[in-house]
Amino acid sequence: MPSTCLALILAAGEGTRMRSSLPKVLHQVAGISMLQHVMRVSRKAGCEAIAVVAGNGSEQVSETVAKEDGTAEVFLQTERLGTAHAVLAARKALETGSDHLLVLFGDTPLLSPATLTRMREKLSDGAAIVVLGFRTETPHGYGRLVEDGGKLVAIREEADASEDEKAITFCNGGIMGFNGSHALELLDAIGNDNAKGEFYLTDAVEIATSRNLPVVALEADEREVIGVNTRQGLSEVEALWQDKARLAAMAGGVSMTAPDTVFLHADTQLEPDVLVEPHVVFGPGVKVHTGATIRAFSHLEGAEIGSGAVIGPYARLRPGTRMGANTKVGNFVEIKQAVIADGAKVNHLSYIGDAEVGRAANIGAGTITCNYDGMNKHLTRIGENAFIGSNSALVAPVSIGNGAYVGSGSVITMDVEDNALGIARGRQVNKAGFAEMIRARNAEIRKARKDS
Ligand code: UD1
Ligand code: CA
Repeated sequence: MPSTCLALILAAGEGTRMRSSLPKVLHQVAGISMLQHVMRVSRKAGCEAIAVVAGNGSEQVSETVAKEDGTAEVFLQTERLGTAHAVLAARKALETGSDHLLVLFGDTPLLSPATLTRMREKLSDGAAIVVLGFRTETPHGYGRLVEDGGKLVAIREEADASEDEKAITFCNGGIMGFNGSHALELLDAIGNDNAKGEFYLTDAVEIATSRNLPVVALEADEREVIGVNTRQGLSEVEALWQDKARLAAMAGGVSMTAPDTVFLHADTQLEPDVLVEPHVVFGPGVKVHTGATIRAFSHLEGAEIGSGAVIGPYARLRPGTRMGANTKVGNFVEIKQAVIADGAKVNHLSYIGDAEVGRAANIGAGTITCNYDGMNKHLTRIGENAFIGSNSALVAPVSIGNGAYVGSGSVITMDVEDNALGIARGRQVNKAGFAEMIRARNAEIRKARKDS
């Protein structure tokens, strides 16, 4: 039978150095909160139960947790008495008896599911505790992994470490795994007789060792366990996250002309053979199908792009945009809540909102769907193979038939039937010789001014 796992995420930190009214773990990386990153990584590592320990701003934390995962539970740590104390705030979750317990920090969003899986394998192999360590030349501030004969026997916090221990460069990344059958008895044995007077979760290692329970240290890449404490730290973690995501996209068959200038969201989906040109920003909820090109300086959110489509340069696609296969969107076009069927083109300077555009329709430059009357949004329907002349305003609700034409510069307020031409603008009048007359009059005026 596969083992069960509880992920317990500590998120009761003050986060003072963020200088923010938002709890630290709710600050975002790649468009979702750090806490959500940790929750998603836990899920991917097979943790079917998630518990979050919140302190400051617990209502906001609870809201985020509920949105992300309806089954995850939030526990309150009212006093901040240390990491072991925080874990025990979720005693009820611990008592449900999962095979594995992973204790994670809500401010370490770069952790990978593969690392958690490796930790769980150690627990399945019989370890009572597994500690995720990393090596660094600057260990100051971290708990040091004290080994004896190559075996982890204790973790010493900076404040309690001897000079010899301070020289150790193998550090505690903070993430610890416990075998469910020993977790509670070890946690309950932790005291607070130390330099800070805190209940250190890390003391569980020494207690387990004294009881002859096997303890294992696993080494991880330092970057995976980076914790965010400041706005600068947040931006550094964002940069690392973006780097990793771009590399993963390229490894999956996506081309990026200048990857460093492309920003992905945590949920961006790019299929193989998508080309992303420089300076493209992906907001939440974007899926791009194979063979599509996202040209330079485009901004996309909540949009699905069909295969072979060409978007941009300088396109803005907003939520609810569905671009069919081989569609085209050109420069300075904004599209919102609109379905654009296969082969249709919106090439220049248009706003298409709350609309359905049929197959192979052509929307001329400067076309605007006037979708909002100040109170409500209305739908514009444009049929297959319709041709909308440049600089037309389509005043919704309105429908342009299949194969219909709209004359340039029209303000269309009535439906246009299939294959009809709708034209709604002042009729042109040419006045013969008028230009000469105007020039002569201007010349007279200039002469009069000179003479006076
Ligand atoms: C902790 C580890 C240390 C490790 C380091 C890695 C302990 C005792 N020490 O130290 O070995 O090298 O992380 O970054 O565990 N928290 C609560 N409630 C509390 C105390 C902490 O929720 O009462 C949360 C914090 O919000 C934070 C996490 O637990 O997310 C770690 O706490 P922090 O005080 O930052 O621990 P460190 O001193 O960094
Ligand atoms: Ca810390």
